[in-house]
Amino acid sequence: MLSHPDPARETTAGPGTEPVAGADPGDVGTAGGGAPSGTARGPFLAACRRDQAEDRVPVWFMRQAGRSLPEYRRVREGIPMLDSCMQPDLVAEITLQPVRRYGVDAAIFYSDIMVPLKAVGVDLDIVPGRGPVMGHAFAGAADLPGLRPLVPEDVGYVTEAVQILVAELGETPLIGFAGAPFTLASYLVEGGPSKDYARTKALMVGEPDLWHELCTRLADISAGFLAAQVAAGASAVQLFDSWAGSLSAADYARFAQPYAARVLQRLGETGVPRIHFGVGTSELLGLMGAAGADVVGVDWRVPLAEASRRIGPAYAVQGNLDPALLRAPWPVLAERVREVVRSGALAPGHVFNLGHGVPPDSDPEVLGRIVDLVHTEGPELRRRAREGSPAR
Ligand code: CP3
Repeated sequence: MLSHPDPARETTAGPGTEPVAGADPGDVGTAGGGAPSGTARGPFLAACRRDQAEDRVPVWFMRQAGRSLPEYRRVREGIPMLDSCMQPDLVAEITLQPVRRYGVDAAIFYSDIMVPLKAVGVDLDIVPGRGPVMGHAFAGAADLPGLRPLVPEDVGYVTEAVQILVAELGETPLIGFAGAPFTLASYLVEGGPSKDYARTKALMVGEPDLWHELCTRLADISAGFLAAQVAAGASAVQLFDSWAGSLSAADYARFAQPYAARVLQRLGETGVPRIHFGVGTSELLGLMGAAGADVVGVDWRVPLAEASRRIGPAYAVQGNLDPALLRAPWPVLAERVREVVRSGALAPGHVFNLGHGVPPDSDPEVLGRIVDLVHTEGPELRRRAREGSPAR
């Protein structure tokens, strides 16, 4: 079991960080008996734990499995997205594809943030090219009972797939993941993808009691989904609050952070590192760390050294190459990759990643070159960047 209690944490949240209100860790239950440690080890877990003795810069990519890979398109042919998530052998194969191809330092479980909602009986689909679409949008209190807590038996196919994967992956860690309540609520309330989250925000500020009920239930579903993955052997988790960046810091602190905290606190009992990620969260980084993360995922808008300053020294960072730059000529892109490594070297721990997911039309060759560059040049770039900067 990876355990790294950090007494400094409570006092090191960034400026403007308010105490987490609304979350009640006392009644969220346990994570299901703790995590088997498996054999996972290496630079990814070291970076999450802020172990600076490790020279190798770990790298993986959000959405590394998926449409950018021809081998993915081949095995997914004719199989709807949600069905594919319920077939353990297929899930294991798709999860392993980018690990085999790129030699990344972590695998991310192939699933979707909507799978746990489907698993508790919510009527939804994932429409190619569009995203999650609900059978009917969340309309009020009458829809709450449909959002019951998730138990491991709801996702036996996840347990099975994780077990296959942990055996196959050996020392390479498997990252489990779930969507955070705000982001899940946005799909439920809007009925599908949205640009402005207007209905979601109207519900949030207009009916705060109902919002609280909704997000508390979503937190328990997400926590249950993550707990099932960790109990089966995942050695880290990432909570995606992808759309939290649409909120002001004050609204995030009041309406989103408490529920992300509820999820992260429950996972804290397992001892696995917790990564907390969102897009457009420059103003929220301190709050996202304080919600109970070990690692804060940063998009491309803030350099990692500055992000780390905002989050505080008790946290590692993950990111943050702009995915749009994958199309740039290689010499230019390579220099940007080096810049991310140099900036990340000034944080207490750095996991190289993109600032958001791999775009479906990305060239896998380019991603492979990035992995090689980070692995070959990373240690030296990191050493030099640290030498040139005062110790923190
Ligand atoms: O490799 C990995 O990162 C693991 C797999 C993964 C998927 N979804 C598979 C998927 C992960 C981590 C997710 C998380 C997810 N799903 C998020 C959070 C990450 C983020 O991008 O911010 C969100 C917001 C969703 C919801 C969702 N599901 C969207 C927006 C889409 C894209 C719709 C489209 O077709 O453009 C999906 C579908 C989806 N999830 C695909 C994959 C591989 C594509 C579907 C397909 O291949 O048919």
